[in-house]
Amino acid sequence: MALTSEDCACIHAIWPHLSAHPDKYGAEALYRMFLCEPQTKTYFAGFDFHKDSPQIKGHGKKVFDALTKASKHLDNIDGALCDLSELHATNMRVDPGNFSLLAHHILVVCAIHFPDKFDCHTHQAVDKFLANVSCVLTSRYR
Ligand code: HEM
Repeated sequence: MALTSEDCACIHAIWPHLSAHPDKYGAEALYRMFLCEPQTKTYFAGFDFHKDSPQIKGHGKKVFDALTKASKHLDNIDGALCDLSELHATNMRVDPGNFSLLAHHILVVCAIHFPDKFDCHTHQAVDKFLANVSCVLTSRYR
C-alpha cells in the first residue's frame, strides 16, 4: 500500500482545497459518518450530533488538521501521527473497523465538493492515503 510518486502528486493537488476549510469539510465527513453509521456515535459521549454543531465542527477541524499534517509528511505518516496513534489505541480504543467508515465519508466529501479535481487516479490516491493513516492510527493497539 506504498504511495507512489503519482499518488503523492494527486494528494498534494487536492488536499490544500480541503485543508483550506477544515471545519467545514471535516464536519461534513463526521456528520455523514454519524448519520450513516450511528454505532460510531458511541465513542463521542456528550456530543451534539446535529449538523454543524460546535462539537462536530471543532472535531472535524481537528481530524482534518491531522490529515493535513500527514499530507505534508507522506514519506513518514507514522512519525507525523505517532501521538495520535497512541491516543486512539490507549484512550479512545476505537475499533479499527471504524477507520474505513470515516475514510469512506471523506472520499464522499471530496467527490461532492471537488468533482473536477477528484478523477479516478486522485480517488485511488486519497483512498490509499487514508488507508495508510488508518494503519498508523491502529498500529499501537497491541
Ligand atoms: C482519519 C482518521 C482519524 C483521524 C485523523 C483522527 C484524528 C483525531 C484527532 C486529531 C483527535 C483529537 C486528539 C486530541 O484531542 O489531542 C481525535 C480524537 C478522537 N477520535 Fe479520532 N481520528 C480519526 C478516526 C477516528 C474514528 C474512526 C473514530 C471513531 C469512530 C475516532 C474517535 C475519536 C474520539 C472518540 C476522539 C476523542 C474526542 C473527544 O472527546 O474530544 N477517531 N481524533
